[in-house]
Amino acid sequence: MNNIGFMGKNHNHKKKSKDASKGSSPQVTAIILAAGKGTRMKSEIDKVMHKVAGKTLVRYVVDAVNAIVADEVVAVIAPTMEAVRDEVLEAFPKAAFARQKERLGTGHAVICAETEVESRKGVTLILYGDTPFISPDTLKEMLRTVRANAKMAVCVLGFSPKHPSDYGRLIIDQQGNLAEIVEYKDASDAERKVRLCNSGVMAVRTELLFDLLSKVNNKNAKGEYYLTDIVKIARENGYICGVVEAHEAEVMGINNRANLAEAEKVVQRHLRERAMENGATLIDPETVFFHHDTKLGRDVTVHPFVVFGAGVEVADGVNIRSFTHIEKAFIDDGAVLGPYARIRPGSDIGKNAHIGNFVEIKKARVEEGAKINHLSYVGDAFVGAGANIGAGTITCNYDGYSKYNTYIGKGAFIGSDTALIAPVKVGEGAIVGAGTTVFNDVPPHALAINEKKQKIVKEYAKKYRKDRAKKKADLKKAAKKAGVKAKPKKAKR
Ligand code: UD1
Ligand code: MG
Repeated sequence: MNNIGFMGKNHNHKKKSKDASKGSSPQVTAIILAAGKGTRMKSEIDKVMHKVAGKTLVRYVVDAVNAIVADEVVAVIAPTMEAVRDEVLEAFPKAAFARQKERLGTGHAVICAETEVESRKGVTLILYGDTPFISPDTLKEMLRTVRANAKMAVCVLGFSPKHPSDYGRLIIDQQGNLAEIVEYKDASDAERKVRLCNSGVMAVRTELLFDLLSKVNNKNAKGEYYLTDIVKIARENGYICGVVEAHEAEVMGINNRANLAEAEKVVQRHLRERAMENGATLIDPETVFFHHDTKLGRDVTVHPFVVFGAGVEVADGVNIRSFTHIEKAFIDDGAVLGPYARIRPGSDIGKNAHIGNFVEIKKARVEEGAKINHLSYVGDAFVGAGANIGAGTITCNYDGYSKYNTYIGKGAFIGSDTALIAPVKVGEGAIVGAGTTVFNDVPPHALAINEKKQKIVKEYAKKYRKDRAKKKADLKKAAKKAGVKAKPKKAKR
């Protein structure tokens, strides 16, 4: 499944803009600002490492940048953010890192990336690591807008939120160009009434970026070096600045756990819609939770309350019943899972196999048409095609130190309440009697049962009940004689 995205719309260009640099391959640099501490998350985890639909915030940003084929990514991080560094490198192995030791403002953060970026040409995109849902289409539109006009120094991504609160305001001049960005704390009452806000994302002509930034000072309400000041400075130097406008949901920033939960809602809604568009039936979409990488085939039916963890691929026509939890597994065509199935990492469920209620499968290959329908644990195992695993079967795969494998051949029948002590093999077509503890391999087509005898005592049950009834009556009689009241009956309600 792809990154969530919304189309941006160009604010100040009535005509469709043309890519002036078509034909050549212009340089695209991305600077991702992620040095913020994120104190409002109240977390030991770096803010941009928090996850939405199982993917880190910063990974969403790098994926969007990758989709537009940026040739250089520089992440500005605090000195201790090794986890962020590793995450960015995983998505963009050539990425460079700039360490911002003191948090002196967004302008200062970009200056920290100067050595990595200053010799480059083309356009630089400045993104925030905590604003994860920027779509590649919007970034492309911003690049196009800058490239289309040689006089354009900066293009800012704006949006018109329902509640503009303390966002920076975009002041548009009479020609429809961006005149300046005024930070909320520095804005006049009239400026605060402007609804068009700064998302923080910018596209800047790389050759001008550090020259403009060198003119930024910190004489403002926050005492910070504002990146946003480069707009006014560019204008004063004879350049123009533009705006591309995005949908509010695309530029939502994550500052606290409530924002994180809201973002999760947005992404889940998107993933559900995507699953349905691709031909899956979700009986009650709002109760199904996907991972960003879940892959569903056609005619998959997902009943209410199903959770997909990381790395799940489901082929066509699979029926996933309620309260099933699946992670790192492949489910082949026509299989039936649940209700209440737990499919753990490394599971490979074959065509038309059935995994029923309260069955846990881990690191097991279940071949075509095999059935494990009730109350079982099958881990580190191979279950051959058409095998039938009875209720309560357990593969005893762990001796407290190591894990061992269980092999069950094609067409084998495992009776209920069987314990398979791994490593062990049950041959093709073999039958294991109910309640057997299988210590040794069972040859193909053989029967395995434990030596347990069943004793029959004729009429015993009748005699037992009679004895119990007599005992009860005797006790009652003795109590009456002694004048002791029988146990008081429970009061009726
Ligand atoms: C910024 C914008 C504001 C915009 C808003 C959108 C400025 C001056 N203001 O304000 O116009 O409406 O974003 O959310 O740019 N960061 C660093 N180092 C720093 C400071 C910030 O890396 O020294 C990073 C943060 O980690 C974060 C991003 O830059 O990812 C934005 O910083 P933040 O402090 O949230 O900026 P705002 O005050 O919200
Ligand atoms: Mg902010």
